[in-house]
This record gives sequence, C-alpha cells and structure tokens, in this order.
Amino acid sequence: MTDTKHERPTFDEWDEINFPRPEENEFDRVVERAISRRGFLGGVLAFGSGAAVMGAGILNSVPARAAQDSRFAFKPIPISTDNTVHVPEGYRWQRLVSWGDPLFSGVAELDHATGGSVADADKIFGENTDGMELFIIGGKQVIAVNHEYTNNDINLPEATDGVPRDAQDVVKLQNLQGVAVFEISETDGVWSVVKDSPFNRRITHNTPMRITGPAAGDDLMKTEADPTGTESLGTFNNCGAGKTPWGTYLTCEENFNGYFGATGDTQIEGLAAEGYERYGIAAEGWGYDYHKWDERFDTSKNPNEPHRAGWIVEIDPADAASTPIKRTALGRIKHENAAATLAPDGRVVVYMGDDERGEFIYKFVSRDIYVPGGDTSTLLDEGQLYVARFDDDMTGKWIALTPEATGMSAAEIAVFTRTAGSRVNATTMDRPEWVAVNPLACEAYCALTNNSRRGVRANAGGDWTPVGGPNPREANEYGQIVRWRPADDDHASDTFEWDLYVMAGNPTVHEGPYAGSENVNEGNLFNSPDGMVIDSTGLIWIQTDGDDSNEGEFAGQGNNQMLAGDPVTGRIERFLTGPNGSEVTGLCWSADKRTMFVGIQHPSAPFPDGEGKLPRSSIIAIKRDDNAPVG
Ligand code: FEO
Ligand code: CA
Ligand code: CA
Repeated sequence: MTDTKHERPTFDEWDEINFPRPEENEFDRVVERAISRRGFLGGVLAFGSGAAVMGAGILNSVPARAAQDSRFAFKPIPISTDNTVHVPEGYRWQRLVSWGDPLFSGVAELDHATGGSVADADKIFGENTDGMELFIIGGKQVIAVNHEYTNNDINLPEATDGVPRDAQDVVKLQNLQGVAVFEISETDGVWSVVKDSPFNRRITHNTPMRITGPAAGDDLMKTEADPTGTESLGTFNNCGAGKTPWGTYLTCEENFNGYFGATGDTQIEGLAAEGYERYGIAAEGWGYDYHKWDERFDTSKNPNEPHRAGWIVEIDPADAASTPIKRTALGRIKHENAAATLAPDGRVVVYMGDDERGEFIYKFVSRDIYVPGGDTSTLLDEGQLYVARFDDDMTGKWIALTPEATGMSAAEIAVFTRTAGSRVNATTMDRPEWVAVNPLACEAYCALTNNSRRGVRANAGGDWTPVGGPNPREANEYGQIVRWRPADDDHASDTFEWDLYVMAGNPTVHEGPYAGSENVNEGNLFNSPDGMVIDSTGLIWIQTDGDDSNEGEFAGQGNNQMLAGDPVTGRIERFLTGPNGSEVTGLCWSADKRTMFVGIQHPSAPFPDGEGKLPRSSIIAIKRDDNAPVG
C-alpha cells in the first residue's frame, strides 16, 4: 500500500521509524556489490540482444519483441490524473459494491456523516478491498474478498484525526477488516450483490480460527485465553489471495505487526525477541490503537499474540458456518498472496512473497497428492517449505527450510520463517508482492514492487541487500517482475531458470537501467507493479500501487493503473486507470469470463459517489459492449 493522503506513514516508513536499519558502508559490501553489478551488466546485454527482456539462453524459442502481432483485444488508454476509472473504447465499468454496502437486509446504507454504525460494521462490505477470487458453488457465483486495513479518518469521521475514541471505535475498525464472502448475480448486464444469500458472511478481527500445522500447540502459540495454542481470533491485514484446486479461498495476512502495541514492558527473549524486531512489532503500533482498548493486542500482557498472525488462512466459501484455518506449514511472513498450482505428480505447490524490503520468496510443496473429490483437509499441513535463492547466472534454487538446515525446530521455522530464510542465505528481494502462475506454460511471475533501500541498507534481519541478480538497481523506485521456469516443467522441482519479464522505469527522465527494460515506452509508463493475475488465455494483468504524483521520476505515469502483458512478446499495454490516490488491486472473472471484477482501494477523493461524500474502496465490474469474454 501507499498512503499518500492520510497522516499515518506507510507500513514501510513506519517500520523504518521503529527499526532503523544501518546504512551499508563496509568495504566488503561495496566489493560484493561491484561484483554483482558485473553480473547484472551481463544481463543487460542479454536484454538488449534482440530477445527483449528475455534472458539469453532461457527462452530461446521466444520470438523477438519486434513481433508486431498483438494479442490485445483493446486499444490502450493514456494515463489519467482525475477522480474516476477509465477503460478502453468498447468497454464499460460499473460499481459492484463499495465499503459500507449492506450484505444483509435490515442493515442501513452508509451514513457519510458517521461512517456507519459499530453494530453494522460486520454486516457490510468492509474497507480497503484487496485480493479476491470468484467461486462457482452449486451454480451460484460467490466472491471472497479481502479487506486489508482501515483509513481511520474516513471510517471514523467523527473522531479527531481518526484516532479511536473508545473500545467501540476499535471494534468498528476490527469489524471493517478481514474477509467478505457474498453471492453476486447479473441481470441484463448489471451485476449486484445478492443480499441475505446463505453464502454471505463477514470474517473479522474477532472471528474464531483454528490453527493447524507445525506451529499448532507449540508454546510460542499459547496465550492465557488459549492455553492449547490451537484456537485464535481474527485474520489480519488480508492483502492478496489465492484459490486451491479444491475450491477454498486462501487469504494472506500481511502487515499484521501494526495492530499490536504495548502499554508496559513486553517480556520476550531469544528467537521471539529477534522476531519482534524482524517483523516490526513495536510499542507504538501503526495507529489502530487496539492495544489501548483491547488487551489481546497489548504485547506487555499477551506477548505471544503476534505469533498467531502472519499466516495463510484457508476459508471454505461454500459453508458460511465453517471455521477458517491458519495453515502454519506455509510459514509466518508478511504474506502478499498465495499462488497455488499442482506438480505433475499431483502434489500441491503454493508460491508466496514476503512483502518487505529485502525479504524473500517462498514455496510450499505438499507431502500428499491432491485427488479430486478426495480428502484435502491436511494437504496444507504436511509438506516442505522452501525459500528461493536467485543466482546471477540466471539459475536459482529452492532451499528446504528443515531443522537440519536452519538449526531451528519445525515450530520455530513456521513462526520465525524470516530467520530461517536468513540462516540458509536466501536472496533478499525488492519487496515481493503477488506471484502469478501461468496456466498455459510452466512458469511463475512475481511482482517486485520497488525497494528504495536496495544496495543502501540491510533488511530487517541484518542481511545485506546487494545490487544484482533479479534486483539489479540500487535504490529501486520503479520495480520489476521476475519470472522463473522450474526444471523439468515441474513446479515441485528444486531448481529453476529465471529472467526479468519487465523492469519498470521512466525513459522520458532517464537513460540506462532506470529507463526500464525495452518493453517500457512512453505509451505504457508505470511504476510499482503489485497485483498480478494471469488469465485463462495467458495474458498477464499487472496492477500498480505506486507513486501517483505524476512528477519528477514519475512524470508521465499518472494514477495507479492496470496493464496487460503478453508473456511471449513482452509487450505491455495500459487497460485501466484508477481514480486519484487509489491503488488498483484484486482481480477475478465471472464464470462466463464476460465480466472482469477489479478492486479500487483507498481512493483519496470522493470516488465513486462524488463531492460531499466519503471516498469508498469499491469493486467494479468491467464488460465489453459486445459482451465478448474479457479474460
Ligand atoms: Fe498489501 Fe504488499 O500489499
Ligand atoms: Ca504494494
Ligand atoms: Ca499488494
């Protein structure tokens, strides 16, 4: 997220304030960087050799970028700097649902003066729509969607600067976040929420969860309220998402640290103390102020409570009474999304990024195979977690996070996954956001959104962040997308080859690496790729969450946007631009693929209702005028 309008710092700025990292200045680090840079120059030559952004020797069969044939069914649009959504000629958009819209009858429409009542907060579409998936259940279409965080000044318009005034304000914030599940239907080309559908439910910061996998029941997970360490309340900072082959929703807990604070001394030691530092759990909190009104979030009273957040949570959208499950085998990081796929032998593979500067990319491979119609209840509990190492020769390796390799117990690896990754020398990345798996080729992509500290400072664990490999630019403000192809066309294999699909940049301001890769041009400028989904036709949809100042380094890039990329030619064209201040995040399609649903998060001006109203995060539905498929 970026939070350009509101008073609070971004999550990254806040972490930096609480846990300043030493600047990189040691001589050996400078040498290391220089060596890495030589490796990168090799890569640049490869990029310029006619294979566009494809690395030499990786995608020999890929046609050169000069190929003129286009797979895009739309005419690209220019940037925007206004307060609405733009889509190409021949397409139209409509609002599906906005923060405050009732999911049940008898619930009031949003009151723009109060931001809605605390009583209704868990019966409405929540705040800050993010990752989402559409499920077809018994012929009905059901969306599960994340509500990532709150914009307190908007959600609590009666409180001074959005600071919660009492426990009721905190409960309201807690209930505006989490996940929403609801049925939708289309009548004469117009989509709406089906109020009171049996699928409709809200999952909040207070919903009972079950904890399974290697951390379940460990002392690290026990609290006074839950001496078993297997039952917790709430899912937090739900960012990106994923879908399993068996039709469940994976919601991903990202900046969970910001909800915790302390009113006194917090008693922690050893790995736990290291974990507080690594994950950024600070006495102040990010501004939710939960710890002042709800003891569960006060680490001086409940030091283990933060261990119960930062997980992938599996939700069954078909059963509104089901208990969400925190799957600890997939590690505890600032989870961006969860891209699940199958290995040729039927094992489940889940790719995951950890979105913080200099953190890692992971994958989980299940022990057992997925059998359609079979028991899937423990597939995400038993398996191996790996972390990625990217080498400068454009190969890479998945390193198993085992007790032998890390010197940690299975439970410790699960709870302090970042430390485990550091102990096996994983590659520090430029803020891994969404991973997308190509359904038409054995490859995966990860958006590395930006990293102002690349080559400047260590990550939160003290690992240096040398320039090189898939993170080739110092103080990288623009971001890039890395792609890997697993050996033997098997997502479960231990090795891969990688290249950069695109390096965002600004050729109108810079020459050289900060101009971006060859598939960036004046017509498709963007920065900070974040959301990413590859559709059923193999097109890559790239959503941005970046600097929308349209000035200086970012001149000509306009508001945040969604672009489409051709994985074969490397060509990228702009499809949608968002309203002022917003981030474009979350993407799924209707069952017939004739509608695309896109999330517009945290608009800063009164979108979509207009002047005098509160800005409302919204899901929009996009269709072609000729009703042809859009993905
Ligand atoms: Fe919630 Fe990394 O974005
Ligand atoms: Ca982001
Ligand atoms: Ca994101």
